[in-house]
Amino acid sequence: MQIIDGKKIAADIKVEICGEVEQLTATGRRRPQLVAIIVGEDGASQAYVAGKEKACGECGFKSQVLRFAESATEAELLAAIARLNADSEVDGFIVQLPLPQHISEQRVIEAIDPKKDVDGFHPVNVGRMTIGLPAYVSATPAGIKELLRRYSIATSGKRCAVLGRSNIVGRPLMNLLSQKGTPGDCTVTICHSRTRSIKEICRSADIIVAALGQPEFLTADMVASGAVVIDVGTTRVPAADAKSGFRLKGDVKFDEVAPKCSYITPVPGGVGPMTIVSLMKNTLKAYKKEVYG
Ligand code: GUN
Repeated sequence: MQIIDGKKIAADIKVEICGEVEQLTATGRRRPQLVAIIVGEDGASQAYVAGKEKACGECGFKSQVLRFAESATEAELLAAIARLNADSEVDGFIVQLPLPQHISEQRVIEAIDPKKDVDGFHPVNVGRMTIGLPAYVSATPAGIKELLRRYSIATSGKRCAVLGRSNIVGRPLMNLLSQKGTPGDCTVTICHSRTRSIKEICRSADIIVAALGQPEFLTADMVASGAVVIDVGTTRVPAADAKSGFRLKGDVKFDEVAPKCSYITPVPGGVGPMTIVSLMKNTLKAYKKEVYG
């Protein structure tokens, strides 16, 4: 069994990005810039945005965080998005989700210029990705693909069970892994809360991606010997002995599942660091105008 070290791969990629940024800016050209919008005080969202800001610094990017109160209106948010769309020094920006109830996430996402939508959430990017056109691919699925690539994990013809049908992980990943290429060419089954025989589907899978947000959902009896297990879960559970007062729990019962696997990602230190680094890669692509020219 080999543990997939997402932290190490993410650190390697940040060095690669940083090197490229230094080359691109050596002649005095401005640095890539990522802006994050955050609304309200949700602890997990604050932590994600802080992580993104830190990664920008490590990659030599300029970054900015626009903070809005929980009570901010949709109109205020849309006005900020319009300003960022028009700002030629902003290569990409993200609106951290979830948003407060009174703001429509869909209207907000669709207000972002697809050329600056480095989260890859705009329907134009989702649609382009789905049919294999150049697009910003959402960061978690892109990070998972990168882990499979860097560990040279065979995917062609493999049966893959994706647990969870979210717009930002399960559904795009189902698409990407079924597309032609490496990694890709998988036969993908997507499972969700209404799926029957989820245990049997998992047991017959060569690769299982657990992205349901249910701590320790995947147990040893659901996993075939030699399977590859990718854990996307990051639920915060209270932990009196942790400095922060909580601990991140994955969707996989790691201690009992790991011994059965050929490869497995830990939580933390697996998919999480790759998500942030994929956002950095998308921002660099935006700066280089690689996707839309
Ligand atoms: N909330 C949870 N994950 C994400 C993400 O990747 N991007 C944004 N914008 N919000 C999120």
